[in-house]
Amino acid sequence: MTWQEIYQSKLTSAKKAVHLIEDGDTVVVGFGCGEAFGLENALLDSYKDFHDITIVNMLTTGSSPWCGEEMQGHFRLNCLFASASNRNAVSSGIADFTTCHFYEIPELLRERLRPRVALVMLSSPDEHGYCSFGTNVDYIKGVCDYADVILAQVNKHMPRTFGNSIIHVRDLTAIVEQDAPLPQICSVEISDVERQIGKYCASLIHDGDTLQLGIGGIPNAVCQQLWDKKDLGLHSELVGDGVVDLLEAGVINNKKKTANRGRTILGAAFGSDKLNNYINNNPSVEMHPIDYVNNPLFIAQNDNMVSINSCLQVDLLGQIVSDTIGLHQFSAVGGQVDFVRGATMSHGGRSIMAMSSTAKKGTISRIVPLITEGSAITTSRNDVNYVVTEYGIAQLKGKTLKERAAELISIAHPKFRAELALEYQRRFGEMPNKHPQTQQNVG
Ligand code: COA
Repeated sequence: MTWQEIYQSKLTSAKKAVHLIEDGDTVVVGFGCGEAFGLENALLDSYKDFHDITIVNMLTTGSSPWCGEEMQGHFRLNCLFASASNRNAVSSGIADFTTCHFYEIPELLRERLRPRVALVMLSSPDEHGYCSFGTNVDYIKGVCDYADVILAQVNKHMPRTFGNSIIHVRDLTAIVEQDAPLPQICSVEISDVERQIGKYCASLIHDGDTLQLGIGGIPNAVCQQLWDKKDLGLHSELVGDGVVDLLEAGVINNKKKTANRGRTILGAAFGSDKLNNYINNNPSVEMHPIDYVNNPLFIAQNDNMVSINSCLQVDLLGQIVSDTIGLHQFSAVGGQVDFVRGATMSHGGRSIMAMSSTAKKGTISRIVPLITEGSAITTSRNDVNYVVTEYGIAQLKGKTLKERAAELISIAHPKFRAELALEYQRRFGEMPNKHPQTQQNVG
């Protein structure tokens, strides 16, 4: 049979496709822009036909309907990243949450959660019968190597990407053609605080560095401050729109990379059509499974690797909380520790943790004497190096406990410094040095 005949033989409706799922199955769905909402909606429409199905996903832009009351007994969500629409369900026990470093998620799925079914969003096939995972290779492509049932929503809006990002139509169980615009994760306006943080982060970035930038206001603010840099590289689990202008202008050109020279390496794209159009059919961008992209050993093959991540809280020891607020699961570790460790192992590498000094409209300090009860440490004090706020840069590696605490107090919001200094005194029996060593500290 030609691939076209195979394709035709597998074409079906979304309703028929999802009825290949059996009671008791574990079903992995894509995340971000790669979520096959056409198939998910068909599953939800027929929810009464299904029992005891575990849905596994990561960051979703959707409304997590699996968590609705009427879905109990039919579907149960086990998320690997709490999202806005399912945080409360996780906190109240309606949904489950499994914590795992991003690079280990393919192994977690294969060895422990053992899904029988994958729901994937793919591009239209090329002239050889290969569809592309497009924006999302991450953990989902790996699942397709062993899942018994692979249900594909083929969507002409899904870009075609290079790298390890293809699957042949013969390997799909059922194909549903459904064109739908991808979720658009547009950049929000950058605040003055984020702009200042971006400037401090950029001061730690040198020509020729390879960057990991996450998504959101701070990474975008960093991007805006990189226009005077040269020959930057990009190796990131996911990126948003912020990198596109820099790539198009050649500020990021991957020329000095010591691994995958000349190519941008990503696990997923999490932006709008601006980013999707850039990665579409672009041989300079490679999408790879996350156990490659985020493996600290592979990350470290890039000399001068700089990781920039964000967090919610840091205590005076330099312990970083990024994914919980007290007992509440807010997000997940994602690839934060993967990149902190990879950048630390990289020759000439640096890891940066960037956050605004306060939260909740300036009412609380993110730099605290003690981590909030119930919160989990995301990145240990032994892994952290630079911490950046709008008040400067604290450099922690190699510093004594006193020096670390003093550095952190110096980048706290001024209105919280006296309180933090009292905690310093309680711990160390003296007040902190007014002028910690880091030169960039201001305020
Ligand atoms: N105590 C209580 N609430 C806090 C808080 C704290 N210490 N810190 C932040 N918050 C609140 C904020 O006020 C905000 O609430 P609001 O929207 O009602 O104002 C909310 O929590 C989110 O804070 P914000 O700083 O805007 O978060 P963000 O969207 O920039 O995301 C992380 C920051 C840390 C949650 C996110 O980067 C993350 O999940 N990181 C872990 C994964 C990771 O790093 N992956 C690798 C890169 S993609």
